[in-house]
Amino acid sequence: MSTYPEPAVTFVRGEGSRLYDESGRAYLDFLSGLAVTSLGHAHPTVADAVCQQARTLLHVSNLYGTTIGPEVAATLDRLVGDGEPVGGRVFFCNSGAEANECALKLARRWAGPGRHVVVSAYGSFHGRTLATLHATGQPEKHEPFQPLPEGFRHVAWSDVAALDQAATGDDVGAVLLEPIQGEGGVNPATAEYFQAVRRLCDERGLLFIVDEVQTGLGRTGRWFGFQHFDVRPDVVTMAKALGNGVPIGACWARDEVAGAFRPGDHATTFGGQPLATAAARAVLEVMQAEDVPARARAAGARLRKGLEVIPAVAEVRGLGLLLAARLDDVDARQAAARALDAGLIVNPVSPTALRFAPSLLVTDDEIDEALAVVGEVLA
Ligand SMILES: Cc1ncc(COP(=O)(O)O)c(C=O)c1O
Repeated sequence: MSTYPEPAVTFVRGEGSRLYDESGRAYLDFLSGLAVTSLGHAHPTVADAVCQQARTLLHVSNLYGTTIGPEVAATLDRLVGDGEPVGGRVFFCNSGAEANECALKLARRWAGPGRHVVVSAYGSFHGRTLATLHATGQPEKHEPFQPLPEGFRHVAWSDVAALDQAATGDDVGAVLLEPIQGEGGVNPATAEYFQAVRRLCDERGLLFIVDEVQTGLGRTGRWFGFQHFDVRPDVVTMAKALGNGVPIGACWARDEVAGAFRPGDHATTFGGQPLATAAARAVLEVMQAEDVPARARAAGARLRKGLEVIPAVAEVRGLGLLLAARLDDVDARQAAARALDAGLIVNPVSPTALRFAPSLLVTDDEIDEALAVVGEVLA
């Protein structure tokens, strides 16, 4: 169906930070399938795990036990605790939208009847299912699909007073925020904002749900974006990087919140299956062995520094290896198209900004190569 514009190029193979088109031409990938292939393309450890699992056991219904999902859940719980297990629980699914859908249903179950309103921010992106679309604070995306499920209220981003006003009333159950608005243009929250949200949620008995679908698992220089802000959410959703390209999402919740779900409240056929969780287990092993948060910090600093000295770049925003360069008097869509012609994949996250989300294993040479292309294109 025509939900995407005609693609400018068709890829058939990838390796590390490189993608190859049908004619064999190489491209340097600084988008990673929208922050998905955090370990680069065709990572051998992940490929081996997928192949081996495919020969062992692909799928079993969640009506039966499997061994890998609980192992991955325990690792995620430890990473949410920045190395210390928190004792939370995980629901596995297949995408970011589904991870958020799970969080929204959990919030309703936890808060009880009548407290179904979730407050989220303008400029946010939480998915394309009807409920996550309504949670997404971009009204122009809502219009063609009205009526959307009720129970969503939007407030100005990073504005404590606006949230304070909107998150009142007996009908509110939760606040849902990204630590960096990714699709909204790579706009980071501040520690003050996230800490104020945490206090407000505690005072009013609201769940604080953090959407780490784009930011999670090392990309920002910490395991999760909220860890920059020294807060602990009640619910954390993730997806993109978890399978390095194998579809898998996860909704983590602290134990008491997760306990609101009873058998039958939520379910999925594919979520948590052995194939996807075997991929995630391998991804998390490599991520921990490589200390990807540290790599994202170092590589992100190099990329940021190189972007900041390009004359047409007005500002660089973001954290770690999720960065956007705001451009002076240059159309970002045109710049991204020219970069693609020159063999570099970047994304015009807004009409005025280019987004950079390379592999977390990107080398210094690859960063310098990308910077040279960006410099030339913008010049
Ligand atoms: C923050 C955030 N949440 C949710 C989603 C939706 O994820 P998916 O496309 O896997 O459903 C995205 C996708 O870009 C995202 O960036």
